[in-house]
Amino acid sequence: MQIHAVTIFPAMFQSLTDYGITARAVNSGLLGLNAVDLRNFGQGQHRQLDDRPFGGGPGMVMLAEPIINCVSELRQKLSNDVPVICMSPQGQRLAHRDVCEFAHEEQLILLCGRYEGIDQRALDIIGAQEWSIGDYVLSGGELAAMVLIDAIVRQLPGALGNEHSSENESFSNGLLDCVHYTRPQTVQNISVPQVLVSGDHQAIRHWRLKQSIGRTWLKRPDLLESLELDEEQRQALKEFQNEYDEQRKS
Ligand SMILES: C[S@@+](CC[C@H](N)C(=O)[O-])C[C@H]1O[C@@H](n2cnc3c(N)ncnc32)[C@H](O)[C@@H]1O
Repeated sequence: MQIHAVTIFPAMFQSLTDYGITARAVNSGLLGLNAVDLRNFGQGQHRQLDDRPFGGGPGMVMLAEPIINCVSELRQKLSNDVPVICMSPQGQRLAHRDVCEFAHEEQLILLCGRYEGIDQRALDIIGAQEWSIGDYVLSGGELAAMVLIDAIVRQLPGALGNEHSSENESFSNGLLDCVHYTRPQTVQNISVPQVLVSGDHQAIRHWRLKQSIGRTWLKRPDLLESLELDEEQRQALKEFQNEYDEQRKS
């Protein structure tokens, strides 16, 4: 997969190619990451990229033409059909299923806004889809684009290696992940649940399912509403609820 991030701060994307799973995906050729310096498309001697808003008011607005020119150059090289995603607090809120769909694309162009945002005509002409990473405002689209890239990479087959898997991660099957413990077995008198050291793989699998579904019920009941639980999941939820009630009574 190739991702082209259009930005005035291309160096910010270096951290993705330097650290962790995204770096491994880049080094192994699973992900091509191209941070495109919008400054190269700036206007005039000073390569201007922004101007004051029509109608007055605070802040600056990113000029339409550098962005239109940059995207059409990229599309000429790649294909006219490459989706363009504009990171925006006004966009559709990104969720796991959207990330999985983006992970099927061969190419994506991400637009990173700054200042008050991008001249609307650029987005209309390009046909950009607006996507948000949450209901809060960042100073620029770079961090939002990096969040999206990181989440996409985790869904690329082979990106997590054999020892990890995104299968049981939160949201992948509509539930939150189970709890995790590592060594030592006891920390400040709190021991890991006995079942995890029992060696009984069937019991461990069921316990993890119970924790996963129970924590979803406690923390994100909205997720359960849209799920049709199978027999074992219903049973696991009942067990978790009973244990939870017992604990609260004691
Ligand atoms: C300061 S923000 C502009 C906010 C805009 N004036 C508004 O109130 O809707 C600058 C840029 O940061 C990015 N950005 C800010 N918050 C974001 C979010 N929650 N999700 C995705 N991108 C965001 C967008 O690219 C945006 O153009």
